Amino acid sequence: MEVKNRIILALDVKTMERAFEVADAVSDYINTIKVGYPLALAEGLESISMIKEEFSSKIIADFKVADIPETNRKIADLTFEAGADAIIVHGFVGADSVTACMESADEHDKEVFLLTEMSHPGASAFLQPAAEHIAEMGVELGIKNYVAPATKINRLETIRNIVGKNAFIISPGVGAQGGETSSTLDFADAAIVGRSIYLSHDPKNTAKGIVDGIKL
Ligand code: C5P
Repeated sequence: MEVKNRIILALDVKTMERAFEVADAVSDYINTIKVGYPLALAEGLESISMIKEEFSSKIIADFKVADIPETNRKIADLTFEAGADAIIVHGFVGADSVTACMESADEHDKEVFLLTEMSHPGASAFLQPAAEHIAEMGVELGIKNYVAPATKINRLETIRNIVGKNAFIISPGVGAQGGETSSTLDFADAAIVGRSIYLSHDPKNTAKGIVDGIKL
């Protein structure tokens, strides 16, 4: 996936009005938007196509899909039919559940991102011990796209070493959760930034500052 300026906006706002304001403000710098449960539950799945059509952006649906294969398949089908370019899928549920999403993605000519490990402190209890196995499973399944944390650079590096240099890693946790853009981009292809931008009093300049910082 081509991500302009290597930055993805996590648009975790709860109204379309605010979503449009923020997406519009950053549109010179960011063309890939992650839509998750806050916006999709508040405004419906059509929030995906509305943003996509208005800003010609790519949409990654962060639904952290984690169900049995049959249900995963339905979730992925609905998400792709709503216009998402990619969906984020949990790996801990196992190969069959992940494969169901991959089959949906293939059928719709869309992409799957495999979530290996999360960025928050609580992830160290259960997910971190499994993360390397999850990444290995992704490689065995032929998955190209991964999500790994910006808050734990050594973990991000470990995941990169497992999935290889040709894999595409996106990394959340930059800014509000404490991760830094430049060290994250040493190992990830793109950084995901949410609150630092959408809670900023000037999202446009904040996005510009982040992008300018990458170019230094
Ligand atoms: O506001 P902030 O920049 O912390 O947003 C990070 C985004 O990335 C949120 O949408 C969060 O749900 C998501 N995310 C994460 N850690 C993961 C996977 C997704 O923080 N491992």
